[in-house]
Amino acid sequence: MSFFDYHDGILHAEQVPLPEIADAVGTPAHVYSAGVLRHTAEGFTAALRHLQSARFAFAVKANPNTAVLRLLAKCGYGADIVSGGELRRALDAGMAPTEIVFSGVGKTDRELIDALDAGIGQFNLELEEEGRVLARLAQSRGVRAGAVLRVNPDIDGGTHAKISTGKRENKFGVAIAEAPDIFDRLASLDGLDLHGIALHIGSQLGDLGPLEAAYRRVGELVFELRARGHTITRVDLGGGLGIPYRAGDTMPSFADYAAMVSRVTEQWNTRLTFEPGRVIAGLAGVLMTRVIWVKPGVMYPFVIVDAAMNDLARPALYDAYHRFTAVAPNGETMVANIAGPVCETGDTFGMAQTIDRVGRGDLAVFHATGAYGAAMASSYNCRPLSPQVLVDGDTFTVVGDRILPTELAA
Ligand code: LLP
Repeated sequence: MSFFDYHDGILHAEQVPLPEIADAVGTPAHVYSAGVLRHTAEGFTAALRHLQSARFAFAVKANPNTAVLRLLAKCGYGADIVSGGELRRALDAGMAPTEIVFSGVGKTDRELIDALDAGIGQFNLELEEEGRVLARLAQSRGVRAGAVLRVNPDIDGGTHAKISTGKRENKFGVAIAEAPDIFDRLASLDGLDLHGIALHIGSQLGDLGPLEAAYRRVGELVFELRARGHTITRVDLGGGLGIPYRAGDTMPSFADYAAMVSRVTEQWNTRLTFEPGRVIAGLAGVLMTRVIWVKPGVMYPFVIVDAAMNDLARPALYDAYHRFTAVAPNGETMVANIAGPVCETGDTFGMAQTIDRVGRGDLAVFHATGAYGAAMASSYNCRPLSPQVLVDGDTFTVVGDRILPTELAA
């Protein structure tokens, strides 16, 4: 099902023609579809709901827009957060503190305290010392912190090196072989209710094999911990499912994923938590931009657009591909390099791509920017943070204003 489609030759978000949004808020602008968000969010829970009282914690880092979080809260999602800022966003969006999971390899004491005071449901511990500090902070407040221990299963998720998190050389989690002894020591601390295990091996995973292998390792650990006398009631299976960025990409379906999880976890008898980010929000957004120039180049012309790496960092950071199409295509194509105005060569969205023929002043979009798009924006080159718009049916709402560098800092 697509909510970004051409009607009468004009690209629409649901029933709203994109030029209408450009007229209202200017470009560049992030445009989200509420329909896609609901469709994917509900599709994901529907596939997994039957599993052992599953919990769904949207990875806020993928799209921290409060309106987006509010919509997801209505679809039954809590939040997976990694900072005090994300905690604020999740609470502001009305997510129940008990449905918030605090991940992150470097939580400060301040962040731990704020999360304890907010009464969040689960801390995902990244190292033994974090457990000790958290226990002490909780005790001094007369509370007990619900926690699980994040393990590093040493599995290569087969994704881009910069977003791989489950190999032993990565900074995340405790080595799975050391987990039982660490668990023994932390479980005895007052102030901590250590319920189980968490893992997350990486993002944009296109193959369920590595995930399944990692889950199996965690399953063995669950039984080993029980054999040591621990009560294990929770496993947090992380996020990571990929989305198709290119036309021919195939990704595991929610049903495939659910079947795998079901098969692997059926004997565990634990509550399962899922932390999806990209699969929920990625296809729900486009970045709308206007062509400033078509500049002659040695091999191909450069289509210079008014969006840049500060609006969408993924191509510059991970050589990521985002499909580029005209809002009102004229039926012709061209081969071009697509770049933004920022003063470095890395500010390039694609080289030698066959795209709709565009010219100065034309509107176009980068697709699949709903996750890790606006979320990773910066004001580099003193550029504004671009507005965000949420479309629902035939109406749209500005859910994030254009923020000028002068409003951000002196
Ligand atoms: N849980 C944890 C502990 C994570 O670290 C992440 C993502 C997620 C869940 C959500 O993963 P997802 O379902 O979205 O794959 N900026 C990069 C992606 C970084 C992902 C970091 N962690 C990108 O644009 O590709």
